[in-house]
Amino acid sequence: MSTYRKWTLAKHPSGVPSEDCFALEDFTPDALSDGQVLIKTHYFSLDPGMRGRLSGDSYAAGLKIGDTIESAGIGEVIDSKSERFAVGDMVMGGLGWTQALTHPDRGLQKLDPALFDDKVAMTATIGVLGVPGLTAWFGLQDLGQPQSGETLLISSAAGPVGATCGQIGKTLGLTVIGIAGGADKCAYLSGLGFDAVIDYKAEKDLTKAIATAAPNGVDIYFDNVGGTMLDAAILNMKPKGRIVISGQVSEYNNETPIGIRQTTRFITHRLRMEGLVVYDYAKQFVQAQAAMAALIRDGKLAYKEDISEGIEDAPREYAALFAGANFGRRLIKAS
Ligand SMILES: NC(=O)c1ccc[n+]([C@@H]2O[C@H](COP(=O)([O-])OP(=O)(O)OC[C@H]3O[C@@H](n4cnc5c(N)ncnc54)[C@H](OP(=O)(O)O)[C@@H]3O)[C@@H](O)[C@H]2O)c1
Repeated sequence: MSTYRKWTLAKHPSGVPSEDCFALEDFTPDALSDGQVLIKTHYFSLDPGMRGRLSGDSYAAGLKIGDTIESAGIGEVIDSKSERFAVGDMVMGGLGWTQALTHPDRGLQKLDPALFDDKVAMTATIGVLGVPGLTAWFGLQDLGQPQSGETLLISSAAGPVGATCGQIGKTLGLTVIGIAGGADKCAYLSGLGFDAVIDYKAEKDLTKAIATAAPNGVDIYFDNVGGTMLDAAILNMKPKGRIVISGQVSEYNNETPIGIRQTTRFITHRLRMEGLVVYDYAKQFVQAQAAMAALIRDGKLAYKEDISEGIEDAPREYAALFAGANFGRRLIKAS
């Protein structure tokens, strides 16, 4: 039996997770029982939203010390005691930060290699066609209630959720404004067809910068960041504006969140704000994935992956998400 490596939780972090919050362990998988498969992980994802699970304050169950760090992954079945999966099958599921794992034959999706090519890579199933893309799809369309001609503002717009959201917005006839950190990310968004971009790291007054980009105000704010950026957006909302709370990446590492201060605007402008958990839409995932794959093939939805080689770097790369170091969906090539 081969030996593999996995990252487990060594201690619950406070602030940005430091490397000593994680332990890299060598292990040999247990012999398979009936109904189980052994999967060799090819790629796994690093997700800022996972931060709450490391401290145990998330809508999903928190991780315990010694648990393998969870994330989406794709891999290959290398041994099987299941009638559902054969050796050589490619699968997608919550594989975690590990080079291999024993998994029940439930909760895995078989991936047909014939459906993937140079336009839609298999890794897209844990990116633009996975949780980030689906968050954009349902957050914008269900909670944002977009009408053609409206103005959509997106924070962390160059990330996998934000960039997907903006491009879907363009297909719906919206004017799309993206907020991102740095000239390269802003140039990328312009290239994707965003109507205006704001480099928040270069702006002294973000409220004013949004007002300049959206002189008639914002109808939908798709918020991935929270904190002071959310306040700046609220001050630019039109009456009856909708704020979609997708993520709060600027708050995840704060012991005391900054929170929303501009609440009076909710009264004067009759604003609505609602958060989403993408898994609430699970029954509609397949339909949405088909629609997004069609947009990719039509050249209307581009996606960017930022792939790091080697499981050893996962904690460092995870912390770097909170400094804006990823440019696209951050994946680790595990083996
Ligand atoms: N609700 C759900 O069901 C659901 C599901 C999936 C994801 N999400 C959320 O969606 C959001 C986006 O996820 P993603 O996977 O696409 O990741 P992402 O946007 O790529 O997140 C990392 C990026 O966040 C930005 N960032 C980090 N710290 C920041 C700060 N203090 N202020 C402003 N920007 C900061 C950085 O971009 P810049 O370089 O531009 O600063 C960084 O590159 C996350 O908040 C995530 O939790 C929600």
